[in-house]
Amino acid sequence: MGRDAWAWLGVVVLLLLVQLAGASHVVYENLLELKAEAEAVPPSIVDPQLRAGYHFQPPKNWINDPNAPLYYKGWYHFFYQYNPKGAVWGNIVWAHSVSRDLINWMALEPAIEPSIPSDQYGCWSGSATILPDGTPVIMYTGVNRPDVNYQVQNVAYPRNRSDPLLREWVKPGYNPVIVPEGGINATQFRDPTTAWRAGGRWRLLIGGVAGGGTRGAAYVYRSRDFRRWARVRRPLHSAPTGMWECPDFYPVGADGRRAGLETSALAGPRVKHVLKNSLDLRRYDYYTVGTYDRRAERYVPDDPAGDERRLRYDYGNFYASKTFYDPAKRRRILWGWANESDTTADDVAKGWAGIQAIPRTVWLDPSGKQLLQWPIEEVEALRGKSATLKDRVIKPGQHLEVTGLQTAQADVEVSFEVPSLAGAEPLDPALANDAERLCGARGAPVEGGVGPFGLWVLASADRQERTAVFFRVFRAAAGSDGKPVVLMCTDPTKSSLNPNLYKPTFAGFVDTDISNGKISLRSLIDRSVVESFGAGGKTCILSRVYPSLAIGKNARLYAFNNGKADVKVSRLTAWEMRKPLMNGA
Ligand SMILES: *[C@@H]1O[C@H](CO)[C@@H](O)[C@H](O)[C@H]1NC(C)=O
Ligand SMILES: *[C@@H]1O[C@H](CO)[C@@H](O)[C@H](O)[C@H]1NC(C)=O
Ligand SMILES: *[C@@H]1O[C@H](CO)[C@@H](O)[C@H](O)[C@H]1NC(C)=O
Repeated sequence: MGRDAWAWLGVVVLLLLVQLAGASHVVYENLLELKAEAEAVPPSIVDPQLRAGYHFQPPKNWINDPNAPLYYKGWYHFFYQYNPKGAVWGNIVWAHSVSRDLINWMALEPAIEPSIPSDQYGCWSGSATILPDGTPVIMYTGVNRPDVNYQVQNVAYPRNRSDPLLREWVKPGYNPVIVPEGGINATQFRDPTTAWRAGGRWRLLIGGVAGGGTRGAAYVYRSRDFRRWARVRRPLHSAPTGMWECPDFYPVGADGRRAGLETSALAGPRVKHVLKNSLDLRRYDYYTVGTYDRRAERYVPDDPAGDERRLRYDYGNFYASKTFYDPAKRRRILWGWANESDTTADDVAKGWAGIQAIPRTVWLDPSGKQLLQWPIEEVEALRGKSATLKDRVIKPGQHLEVTGLQTAQADVEVSFEVPSLAGAEPLDPALANDAERLCGARGAPVEGGVGPFGLWVLASADRQERTAVFFRVFRAAAGSDGKPVVLMCTDPTKSSLNPNLYKPTFAGFVDTDISNGKISLRSLIDRSVVESFGAGGKTCILSRVYPSLAIGKNARLYAFNNGKADVKVSRLTAWEMRKPLMNGA
C-alpha cells in the first residue's frame, strides 16, 4: 500500500476507536472534510526538506510520548507511543529503537502491543526500572474496557535477558498489577514512573486527579516484589491544576555538579528532588525542585509558590517528557516530545507527525532554584563545516549574515555582549509575570531599548520569512531585587508565508545576572525544528516552524539587533549538521 492508503487506513481505524479516546486526545470526526483539507495543503508543507534531519523520528506516521528510556548492555533503548497505521493519534503501540550514542538509531519491531485483556484497548505510556540483578522491567498503562477509557497498570519483562537489544517483552499472566481503587478516577490514572527503592520497598508514582478532578495528583504505590502494589493513602503531592499526566520524580545533586543520580539515590543533605508533571489542560511540562520525605512519603517544593510559579523544562513545544539515569556516563537525560504546529490535514498529507527533542542532560543549577539543560554531548559528533564570527558590533536596527555554510540543519552557539544596559526599557507590571504575553506584546519586530537581539534562523534571503530567537532586557521593576529582567523569546509569527500554521510566540524569563552585559544562546536548527538554549540552558524553547521559502539551501542565518543600544557578537560559531542513522529513513 502507498503512503496515502496507509494514512487513510489509519484514519479509518482511528474512527473505529473513537470511543476510546480520552479527554486529552483529539478525535477527528469529519473525515471527508479532513481529506479535502489534506488535498488543499500548500505544496511546501509536504516538502521532504521540512522533515527533521537529526531529531528522533520514525520513517513515517504519528508519534507522541517518550517511554521507558533505558541503558542495557551497551545499548540505549528508546520506546515511544506510535501509530503504525497513520499520521494521526490512534492504534497506539510501543515502538522500539536502539542506539549506541543516543543520536544514531536503529528501529526494531514494536516492543509492546495490545495482546492481553488488561491492555487490549490501549498500550499507553510508562517507564522502565532496572532491578537489582540488572533486569529491566517496564510498567505501562493499559486500557482494558472499550466502553470507557478505563486505565490499569501492567508490567512486562524481557523474554531473553542475554539479548542486549531486548527485542521481545513478555507480559506475566498476573497483569494488571495496579487497578484504580478506593475512589481513584479510572479514566485519569496513568503513566507510571521509574520506581525507586528504599528500605527494601519499591515506590513509584502514577498520575491522576484528586478533589473531584480539579487537582492534579501523583499517587504513590509501594511494593516489595514489583508485583503486589499498595497505594499510600495521600498522594506524594497535589496541586489545583487539573490532571497530571506523565509524572517524573528523581534526585539531583545539590552541589551544582553535572553528574546525575540514580533514581534510588535518595539520602543526604546534598540531594534535592525534582517533581515534573505534564498538565493535561495546558499541554506543557511543569516542575518544582524540593525535598522528599520518604517516611511520610511526601514531597514539598522548596518554593511554597512553586506550583503556581510554573517553572517549565521548555517554554515551547515540549510535552510528556521523561528522564532516565545513564549509568554509562553518569548523567540524567531528559527526553521530550514535540508535536507539529501545522494542521491535522497537513500531517495526513505529509504522512508523519511528531519528533523527539534532542536528549538533554539535566542537572540542578548552583542556585538550587531551577534545572539546567544542555543537549547531550554526542550531538556534537554531527557537526561538520563551520563558520565563525568574532567581535562584531551590530548597530541598532542592523543585522549580520552568517555565510559560507548551509544553515537549514545547523547548530549555532553565540555569545552576546551588551556594552551598556542603561537604555533598558521599563517592564510593564501587568506583564511582569507573564513571559508569553510579554513576548506577544513586545515581539522581535518591536524596537526596544536593550534588545530584542538574537538570531533569525530559517530565514529567506529577503527576510520575508524568519524565525526570531532573541533576548530582551528590561529595567528592574520597582521594589524588586534591582536586577535587570531578561526575557527569552522565540517569535515564529514571520516564520512562513503559509497562513494555516500555529505560530504562537513562546517565551520564558531567564534567571541570569546580565549586569556584566553577557549572555549566550545556542540553537539547534533542523529544517522544521528550532530548539534553543538561553544562558547555558537556563531557559529552553523548542518551536516547530515550516518555512515556504527558507527551505533547504535557501535557509539563511542572521544575528540581529532591534534595540536602541549596540550589541556585540563576541563569538558566533555555526556548524552544518550531518544526518545520523535515523530508524532506516
Ligand atoms: C538470547 O539472546 C542471545 C543474544 O542475542 C542469543 O544468543 C540467544 O540465542 C537468545 N536465546 C534465545 C532462547 O532466544
Ligand atoms: C473522572 O474524570 C473525568 C475527567 O475529568 C470526569 O469527566 C469524570 O466525571 C470523573 N469521574 C468520576 C467518577 O469522578
Ligand atoms: C500540539 O499542537 C497544537 C497546535 O496545533 C497545540 O495546540 C497543542 O497543545 C500541542 N501540544 C500537545 C502536547 O498536544
